[in-house]
Amino acid sequence: MQGLQTRHPFPTIALHWIGAALVVALAATGYAMTRLAPGDPGQFTLYQLHKTLGVAALLLAVARLAAAARRQPRWAMRRRDRGARAVQAALLALALVVPMSGWALVSASRLDMPILLAGFMEFPRIESLRAISPEAKSLVEPRLSTMHAALAWALVALAAAHALAALHRHFVLGDKVLRRMLPVLAAASVAAMSPAAATTWIVDPARSTLGFAGLETGNRFAGRFGRWSADVAFDPAQPQGMQVRVVVDIGSAATGDGRRDTLMLGDDWLDASGFPRARFEATGARALDAGRYEARGTLALRDRIRPVAIEFTLEVADGEARARGTASILRTEFGVGRGMWSGIQVVAPEVLVSFDLVARPAP
Ligand code: HEM
Repeated sequence: MQGLQTRHPFPTIALHWIGAALVVALAATGYAMTRLAPGDPGQFTLYQLHKTLGVAALLLAVARLAAAARRQPRWAMRRRDRGARAVQAALLALALVVPMSGWALVSASRLDMPILLAGFMEFPRIESLRAISPEAKSLVEPRLSTMHAALAWALVALAAAHALAALHRHFVLGDKVLRRMLPVLAAASVAAMSPAAATTWIVDPARSTLGFAGLETGNRFAGRFGRWSADVAFDPAQPQGMQVRVVVDIGSAATGDGRRDTLMLGDDWLDASGFPRARFEATGARALDAGRYEARGTLALRDRIRPVAIEFTLEVADGEARARGTASILRTEFGVGRGMWSGIQVVAPEVLVSFDLVARPAP
């Protein structure tokens, strides 16, 4: 069984936090330098510092874009994070466009000031802009200045919204997005402060069962899955921080009736050779009453993914947890039962999945 703790690769974490620090420093220097009295002796140094940091931000944005183009971990691509991903895409775009607008502005400036990295190393300006006539510059420069300021403040506002959303998700919703982006030591201390530092449970397969039941011509049939694995992170005091992933080996389903089992694993039903695994994933549960919870998640079965709710009770005693629950599934929603079986007269559409899990906290 794998652990649920996932973290971005170190280069992604480093680029993220260096980028965040640069935005703060650039906003501060940009604000300060444009509000100094003309001729202030600190002005030149502050402008050069801003340009140096700005060039660093430009190079970093290019590196981050290259990193973002690489394959993302699966958990980083969940559909439910669509809003957050749109903000991140906008942040990535602005992180590139803002320094480019600053670079263009300096290149089109009538003052013709160099970009001195760390006060001595000249960074090239955009020659095609530098070469335009002074009249054209007096038209272009103020526009670029307004554009750079507007885009820069939009970037600052979006970055602040993104940071607040991450803090909200960590401290209120109790999920792991912030921890994934923290370096190891910081993550450990935030995890300790976290209201939802959920315990990871190791399920004992020998003492746990995963079963299903349905109706065939009005008669109840029941079966079990012999092979499956479960990753569970759960703290009864903070059910909203729960994370569950159950992976089921479809070919291990058996009802004890050879004829039915062969049919059930065949193409028209579960198609165990075409779709060997089913997966249930849920993030967050809510307490219904004492010791009883509901978790809403998704079930991937055959070629379909559909929302599924599970209800379960939990007893924790002597350091051991026992979770028992059920989920009602409509097989027809997953395309289970095709061809001559697509009707619901012979086999009822409802299938009740039940589980009885015994688990101990991970050491
Ligand atoms: C992520 C990168 C950057 C951020 C967040 C940023 C932010 C800012 C901010 C907040 C201001 C003040 C705007 C105002 O309120 O008037 C500013 C002004 C300025 N920035 Fe940047 N900047 C960035 C990159 C750059 C780069 C790469 C350069 C040049 C190489 C640059 C050159 C300038 C200049 C010359 C001004 C003065 C604009 C004027 O008053 O006309 N910036 N920047």
